[in-house]
Amino acid sequence: MITKASDLDPDMANARAVATVCTSCHSSSLFLTAARPYLRWEETIQNMLDRGAVATDEQLNRILTYLVRNITIVNVNSSPADQLAMTLQISAAAAQEIVTRRSGRTFTNIDQLKAIKGINTDVLQKLGTKNLLQF
Ligand code: HEC
Repeated sequence: MITKASDLDPDMANARAVATVCTSCHSSSLFLTAARPYLRWEETIQNMLDRGAVATDEQLNRILTYLVRNITIVNVNSSPADQLAMTLQISAAAAQEIVTRRSGRTFTNIDQLKAIKGINTDVLQKLGTKNLLQF
């Protein structure tokens, strides 16, 4: 059950949207453990809408934000800048910095990312612990 905001997404309204929309047909355990890349979440949400899920646009935005912050896999060396920005919770400029750096030399661990200006080390550490970062 999702009864509170997560440590990676302090916005309670996002958690509430997930709890309201995504647990009417099945338990949240079906997706809370099913980490996947951003585009696969977009497909999954569309799949659930096709199956009859009902949500406002605002709820859908909140759900996507929740999933992107908590349960989304990013590849530091290949995910597009906008996906890095969303999941790492950093500015577009910091995400672009990652893209620029990796074109010269790929990242191999979290510590190298900490050198990026504007990186959110708290989020970075939590994503690492949850195995959501790929290199
Ligand atoms: C109208 C009913 C309904 C609602 C509402 C619903 N689902 Fe589902 N969901 C299903 C059904 C039926 C399945 C099993 C069929 C399948 O595996 O595709 C399923 C399976 C899944 C799966 C496992 C299959 C996969 O794609 O990995 C995930 C993840 C999932 N749902 C996520 C969500 C999320 C996130 C939401 C909220 C946006 C949601 N569901 C809302 C009906 C629903």
